[in-house]
Parts: sequence; C-alpha cells; structure tokens
Amino acid sequence: MKKIAIIGGGFRGVGCLKVLKDKGYEVDLYEKNDDVGGVWHPSNNYKGLRIHTPAKLNQFENFPYPDNIDLTERLESKQVYQYLKSYVDAHHLNENMIFKTPIHKIEYNSKTKKTTLVVGESEYKTKEYDFVINTNGYCDRHIPDFKDAKSFEGEILHSYEANEEKVKELIENNKKVTIVGAGKTATDLVTTFRRLGYKITWLYRTPYWFLRYKHLHDNLRESFAGKTGHFFFKSTMLLGFMLSSFLPSVSCLLWRACGNIHTYGKKHHDYRKFHVALVDDGEMELLKETSKYYSITGEIDRFEENGYYTKDNQYVESDAVICCTGSSGTKCMSDITVDGEKLDLNTVFKSYRGKVIPQVPNLIFTAYHHFAMGLGDGEIQAKWIANYIESGLTPEELDKKALKFKHPFFTKLILFDTQDFFFPSFMKLQLDFIHNFELNPIEYVAYVYNFFLNAKDGKPLTIYNRHKPKAQAEVPAEMALKQ
Ligand SMILES: Cc1cc2nc3c(=O)[nH]c(=O)nc-3n(C[C@H](O)[C@H](O)[C@H](O)COP(=O)(O)OP(=O)(O)OC[C@H]3O[C@@H](n4cnc5c(N)ncnc54)[C@H](O)[C@@H]3O)c2cc1C
Ligand SMILES: NC(=O)c1ccc[n+]([C@@H]2O[C@H](COP(=O)([O-])OP(=O)(O)OC[C@H]3O[C@@H](n4cnc5c(N)ncnc54)[C@H](OP(=O)(O)O)[C@@H]3O)[C@@H](O)[C@H]2O)c1
Repeated sequence: MKKIAIIGGGFRGVGCLKVLKDKGYEVDLYEKNDDVGGVWHPSNNYKGLRIHTPAKLNQFENFPYPDNIDLTERLESKQVYQYLKSYVDAHHLNENMIFKTPIHKIEYNSKTKKTTLVVGESEYKTKEYDFVINTNGYCDRHIPDFKDAKSFEGEILHSYEANEEKVKELIENNKKVTIVGAGKTATDLVTTFRRLGYKITWLYRTPYWFLRYKHLHDNLRESFAGKTGHFFFKSTMLLGFMLSSFLPSVSCLLWRACGNIHTYGKKHHDYRKFHVALVDDGEMELLKETSKYYSITGEIDRFEENGYYTKDNQYVESDAVICCTGSSGTKCMSDITVDGEKLDLNTVFKSYRGKVIPQVPNLIFTAYHHFAMGLGDGEIQAKWIANYIESGLTPEELDKKALKFKHPFFTKLILFDTQDFFFPSFMKLQLDFIHNFELNPIEYVAYVYNFFLNAKDGKPLTIYNRHKPKAQAEVPAEMALKQ
C-alpha cells in the first residue's frame, strides 16, 4: 500500500485527501494551522472577504450546498469555511489529518525513491512516504520593504490582518487609514470601509480590470429558470477564454468591447492588470467614486513618524497602512533536499505538467496549475495525481517530457505568487494536458462552458490516463486514432 502525505489543509489538500483515500491509499494530511480552510480559515480572513464567483462554481462533486443556499450568489468566507468542514465530517477525513504540524523539510532519497518529511511545531519528527503532495497555497504575506518603516509610529498591516475587529478598532478610533494596492483584495477592503461610511486614502499604481459579475449572475439565473441564458454573453466569454492563450490582449479587447470587463480607474490597455475576479456593478460604482475623490496614483517612497511620502513627494498623514500587496506560495515553501543536497529553486527551469519537477519525481505540486477555477479543483487534481502515481515515470522520462520555462519555474510564476500571475501562462499549461491527450479538448470546452455558463450540471471533468500500457489506455476513440 503506497503511503502519501499531503501538505496543507485548504480546499486542494482536503479534496485530494478525499479522492486518494477513496482510492485506497494510506494518506496523512499535515496542516500547520489548527483546522482546515487555508485562505478561508477565520485566521486568514479580512473583513468583507467572500467568494467572488457564484456558489454553483464552488462545489465538490456530489457534495451540493444545502437547499437554502442560492447557487447564483456569492458566499461569505464563513459559509465557505463551514461547507469545507461539513465535507470533512461527511467523509470522516478528520482521522487522516494532523493539525498544528508544519512541514519543515522534504527530503527525497533517489535510491529508495522515498521521501522523509521533517514535521512538527517545536519538536521535529520524521516520517517516510512514497509520495508527497504539496498544496501549501498563498502562505506568505507580501509587505513591500518600505524605506524608514521603523520610524513610522502607526501600524503597517497586511490585508489578511484587517479582520472584523481590526476594522472596527480603526473606525472607532477614527484612525487615518491608507489602503495600498489595486487588486481584488484592495477593492474589497476599499468597499468594506466605504460601505461603513468611512473615508480612507486609496493608494495604487495602475487600476485593474475585473470581470463583470452582473452578466455571469444574470446568465446563471436565467439558466436556472430553465431559459437558454444570454447567448451573446456566453459566446463572447467562451471565445475570449479560448483566445486568451494565444492573444491575451485580443481576448481582453473583445471582453471590453462587449462590456464583460470593467474598471474603476483610467481605462488602459495593459491587460496584465486584469484580475480573473468578479466585481458587481454596485461595487464598481463605489470604487469609481473612491478612485475619483479619495485615491492617489503612485506608491510609497518613505515613511516618517506620522505618515509617508509618495514617490512624487506628496505627504500623506496616516495612522494605519493596509498593504493589499499580494501573497506568495514560494517564499514559505518547505526546504526540499535531494540526497542530502538542498534543491535551489532558482535552478529549476523544467516542470512536468506544471506539477512535478523531474529531479523529485514523487513530489507533486497543485498550485502552479489548476484544472478548474473554483474550489472543487482539489478533487480533479487528485484524479490526475492517482494516474501519475501509477505511471512510475523516472526522472529521465520526466525530464524528456517536461516543459521548459524561460524563467526559473518557482520564481517567475504562473499562478503561485499573485504578483506574477499571468492568465495566458495558465492557459498554456492547460494546453499541455490537451496536447498529451490527458484532457479531451471537446470535453474540456464543454466542461468550461457548463462550469461557468450553464446552470445544468455538466459532466465531471475526465482526466485520461496516458501512462497505462497502450491496450488498456482510457483514451477516447477519436483521440486514439490521431496517435
Ligand atoms: C484573499 C483570497 C481570496 C480568494 N478568492 C478566491 C475565490 O473567490 N475563488 C477562487 O476560486 N479562488 C480564490 N482564491 C484563490 C485561492 O487560493 C483558492 O480559492 C483556494 O482556496 C486555494 O486553496 P489551496 O488549498 O490551494 O490553498 P490554501 O487555501 O492557501 O491552503 C493551503 C494550506 O496549507 C497550509 N500550509 C502551508 N504551508 C504548510 C506547511 N509547511 N506545513 C503544513 N501546512 C502548511 C496552510 O496553512 C493552508 O491551510 C483566493 C485567494 C485569496 C488569497
Ligand atoms: N474572493 C475574492 O473576492 C478575492 C479577494 C481577494 C483576492 N482574490 C484573489 O487572490 C489573489 C491575490 O489578490 P490580491 O489583490 O491580494 O494581490 P495581487 O493581485 O498580487 O495585487 C497586489 C497589488 O499590490 C500592488 N503592489 C504590490 N507591491 C506594491 C508596492 N511596493 N507598492 C505599491 N503597490 C504594490 C500591485 O500593484 P501593481 O499591479 O502595480 O504591481 C497590485 O495592485 C488574486 O488571484 C485574486 O483574484 C480573490
């Protein structure tokens, strides 16, 4: 019986645990926090966080939300957390989980082909596994290295620290608050303060484009009511997604022309400043107003006692600076060693399907590539992982089949460090699965269509196993003919 360890108890770790346990593997899940949840654990929530896509897009297979949940609406963070906890309880996953237990080191031995994990909070223990799945997520909170930050008498916080109590405390004490950043977190916190009738200073460099929630929501509502939905919206969204791997600017232009994306600031053509996140029209109006009257374009140059100077030498008095400046999954990754030598992540340029680095064939990453852009992704990942485990691919074979990246894989990232996220790179990784017949393109387009745009339950995404002996391979007939 193969022994598998999962690092992280967020949606991906838990989804992987359920599927791999069902397949009969012996699985331990390690979580450094006191419970499952990851991003959705109460200790990681800023006030106002909710899932930005409708509930329908965020379910595990065969585990629907309770009937009182409107599937076209967005859930609050605590509802998302509760849903994950009920999934854990329903499948008795707690018995496989070890909480308050961070993983410090992942030690791969190329002779035994096994990995020893160094685990524990104050006292370290070791345990050996055949495979390790790293789902560590965004565990590092990025705060820029501001000049003279020590001389500032106020507080510099990361967005994750701006929880319910902190926001209440700042407002009750009438503190002068600055929100730094232009992404989804910044817009959430700006609307949170503004809805409470509180003025803040919003400091950002370039406004972001966001998807328009209204269109997706209206379409899903109609579709739930048994109507055909909005044909124009559906076709332009789908076309945009397909174009985004090759011609990202064209897809954004198309979406912009069709009113599928919107922004609060000056309209620009830098579509790297596009978040695959949804903002509704009411929120956007509030953001536009805040951007017009209470924002400063620029960035902090240096701090002094009671405030900061921007790079344009504008002085802003401030008591609290909330940095919505992103997060990272690499800066907090456990050390990896191969036969006792530390693996320098800057030297890794190759990756097999964005999931395995050839030097460490039994370590699988979930965060660099997603199959689905919703919370059920962990289960789909686990289907691929189960096929991969069976494949027995050697480091040499992996190296031959791996994609080569221009930048070190762990530093100029596809999905893991929010600042480096680039949607077309993500789409290119998806194509690697299609080129290698692990995803059927027709089924994949149908899956994306059903996932985003159609209320009727689509078929779960099938991941084909390319590694079995040819005679047994579950490759669809039309694809098998092409080989
Ligand atoms: C603020 C925010 C909002 C988001 N909103 C959405 C959204 O609306 N929709 C969407 O689809 N996606 C959203 N995302 C993306 C989000 O990352 C995914 O939704 C998803 O929840 C990630 O799940 P995960 O399991 O991969 O990672 P995480 O949820 O980050 O979980 C990783 C877990 O690993 C644990 N861990 C890390 N290192 C170790 C270690 N060394 N040892 C033991 N445990 C460790 C962490 O404590 C954490 O519990 C959002 C991300 C952020 C930051
Ligand atoms: N469910 C939800 O509603 C929800 C909520 C929040 C986040 N998310 C997801 O979580 C991920 C992270 O989003 P995020 O907004 O936290 O991070 P992000 O996308 O990385 O955005 C970081 C922001 O900080 C700015 N920034 C970084 N360093 C800076 C500096 N030194 N000075 C000034 N500005 C600086 C960036 O500006 P530049 O662009 O100019 O570099 C950018 O505007 C995204 O995938 C997002 O979709 C989802």
